[in-house]
Amino acid sequence: MRLSVIGCGYLGAVHAASMAHLGHEVIGIDVDRRKIEALRAGRAPFYEPGLPELLTEVGATGRLTFSDDMADAAGADVHFICVGTPQVHGEFRADLTYVNSAVASLRPYLRSGDVVAGKSTVPVGTAEAIAEALRDTGAVVAWNPEFLREGFAVADTLHPDRLVYGLPTDGDGEPTAEGSKARAVLDEVYATPLSEDIPLVVTDYATAQLVKVAANSFLATKISFINAMAELCEATGADVTRLADAIGYDARIGRRFLNAGLGFGGGCLPKDIRAFMARAGELGVSDALSFLREVDSINMRRRVRMVDLAREVCDGSIVGKRIAVLGAAFKPDSDDVRDSPALSVAAQMQLQGAHVTVTDPQAVDNARAKWPDLRFAATALEAAQDADVVLLATEWSEYRELEPDALAGVVAHTRILDGRNVLEPARWRAAGWTYRALGRP
Ligand code: UDX
Repeated sequence: MRLSVIGCGYLGAVHAASMAHLGHEVIGIDVDRRKIEALRAGRAPFYEPGLPELLTEVGATGRLTFSDDMADAAGADVHFICVGTPQVHGEFRADLTYVNSAVASLRPYLRSGDVVAGKSTVPVGTAEAIAEALRDTGAVVAWNPEFLREGFAVADTLHPDRLVYGLPTDGDGEPTAEGSKARAVLDEVYATPLSEDIPLVVTDYATAQLVKVAANSFLATKISFINAMAELCEATGADVTRLADAIGYDARIGRRFLNAGLGFGGGCLPKDIRAFMARAGELGVSDALSFLREVDSINMRRRVRMVDLAREVCDGSIVGKRIAVLGAAFKPDSDDVRDSPALSVAAQMQLQGAHVTVTDPQAVDNARAKWPDLRFAATALEAAQDADVVLLATEWSEYRELEPDALAGVVAHTRILDGRNVLEPARWRAAGWTYRALGRP
């Protein structure tokens, strides 16, 4: 099939390459020339494991091309909308500028029967508005949310947990005739994952849009729940990692997403729960999501607590102290620093008078662009040179595997803060370190 993918960020670039891998002829469109030039040269414009290899593989087939001209999307059977929906500055709601401008510039090239499949995370009601705006083109809008995780984006796209199609429906909630046609087109696009018995949920627009924000809200709630328990653990001398293991054995709860620490960040969970609250307010049901405000504030409190912990181990003040922060990305295997807890804590410590040196295997350039006043180092050992405190803020495997003795050889004081609860306290203490973590004695 011929597909266009509009927006070549974390979502779109991976989707475009994955669809070409499945055998489709794909054109990726983005207004950012530098992104398009990188992708044309077979280079991923951001760090995502597996993407460079995929770009090389599909590049050789000639099935994947890129353009900054929307006219090149003409003729595709399905147009996937994959542009960003960031948080409006100073407000909770999502900024739909990119979605609206993508739809407006695509509009002149649509033919009757084309499918416009929205993948961006949007406030519920957006799909309906786009369908209305495109009604006279004869194109059919489908909502096909994406659940990929950064760091696993290729695998998540090629082997999704489930597929969701939101289609135009009749009064009984059944797809209309044009909805059924769009479903058949999407079934053809996703023939390979579907043949592997991937669950498929076919539903209406509103449900499909809500699925995505409901899933992210649940994940955020799970993380904040365990971080709230970490606060209780700190107050009682309990160990949140053992607590998470024990409750996680209950299959109804499950151990995943119960890792306490600096909390969630990134381009999705924080802004998605805020946009969801804003939308609930517009819909007159803000009470239904008031718990998400608590989820957000528990999450933000972890960052404050980490700065306090640094102060505690430095006998009451971090002013003038050298602090090495290991990690800048919001999570390992990503170079994304959007709403990164690691970078936010590093910046706070610096603002409060500490001399902070940040290191990260992939995210230093992005971090420097955001916080040019921080110091940066290429490796953990370099960052930790003469440090009074070392903070593990993003759990890259190379930081988890650090040797306490090797690190002890370069620091001024052997104090380590484990912001992700991934180190073995006994091992570090045996090597003479003061070990502190969030939610552990
Ligand atoms: C998330 C969703 O997982 C994905 O399905 C959706 O499509 C996009 O948003 P992503 O933002 O890539 O994906 O990151 P994710 O792996 O979910 O982690 C989010 C944040 O939560 C990270 O900062 C991570 O460090 C943190 N986290 C995760 C915890 O603090 N504890 C956990 O137990 C799990």
